[in-house]
Amino acid sequence: VPVFVGVTEGLVIDLDDLAAKADQADVLMLSHMRGHIVDMDALMDLAQVHNLKVIEDCAHTMGAKWGDTWSGRAGIIGCYSCQTYKHVNSGEGGLLICEDDEIMARAIMLSGSYMLYGKHRAGPPIEAFEAVRLVTPNISGRMDNLRAAILRPQLRQLEAQCAAWNDRYHVVDQGLAQVAGLTRIKRPQQEKFVASSYQFLLLDWSSAAIRSVLARCLARGVELKWFGAPDPVGFTSRYDSWTYAPSSAMPKSDRILHGVIDMRLPLTFSLDDCAIVARIIAEEVAQEAKGA
Ligand SMILES: Cc1ncc(COP(=O)(O)O)c(C=O)c1O
Repeated sequence: VPVFVGVTEGLVIDLDDLAAKADQADVLMLSHMRGHIVDMDALMDLAQVHNLKVIEDCAHTMGAKWGDTWSGRAGIIGCYSCQTYKHVNSGEGGLLICEDDEIMARAIMLSGSYMLYGKHRAGPPIEAFEAVRLVTPNISGRMDNLRAAILRPQLRQLEAQCAAWNDRYHVVDQGLAQVAGLTRIKRPQQEKFVASSYQFLLLDWSSAAIRSVLARCLARGVELKWFGAPDPVGFTSRYDSWTYAPSSAMPKSDRILHGVIDMRLPLTFSLDDCAIVARIIAEEVAQEAKGA
């Protein structure tokens, strides 16, 4: 049974809320959602105090760092998605990294190695499988050779791709620097982010005003996603959308989620495209704010 933890205006996990709830769980599933990285030093200290194992969901932070540490290297497991919209793309698939022999042996068995685990070239020593080989089911989540072959050249390109995303991010961010009513996300210096998407807040705006901004931008060709709609659309589900898991209301987080506007920054956008996108958003937000 999951216990949901809130989000801050910086779009990272709320460490006060985590501290308050930490004793209710054994594992923290930390999602670096949309590439925003919390103060990992503070988080890992907290995890240690409360004996929480940290699993990092790095679906949006492959290639990013907190300080000098790669995203995915602080927790006990780092998970990376290679689905179409991620930093490396094999259509579907993903991988995890971990230095714990037993966890890795279990993961290899789970992935569907059958009794061929000894052939895994990056696996733990064969003895690590003894305790788990007959008690771990096969869920067939193997990384196949074809996908691996598609991904490996992309890993070599990753640094350049990340720089290209960040160039686009900075153009959009600059373009939105002076817009009344629009809150940009402050990013700490230690956060070496990879911005394959851009978020801003329309904090405390009414639903009607936000919908109006989205419609105005869409009419000019800029499609924005909103995390505040009562019903999830596309990728915008929230904790209260997941009715299969019980949750208690988190009013502080709800206020933030209500204001989160989101868009991808595909590398097919040129820097000029990004400047135009930012100009359109800036004009439409300003126009709506003036009317309100
Ligand atoms: C933040 C985040 N975590 C996890 C996933 C799941 O990745 P996959 O679809 O490869 O299982 C996604 C996928 O879209 C994601 O955006």
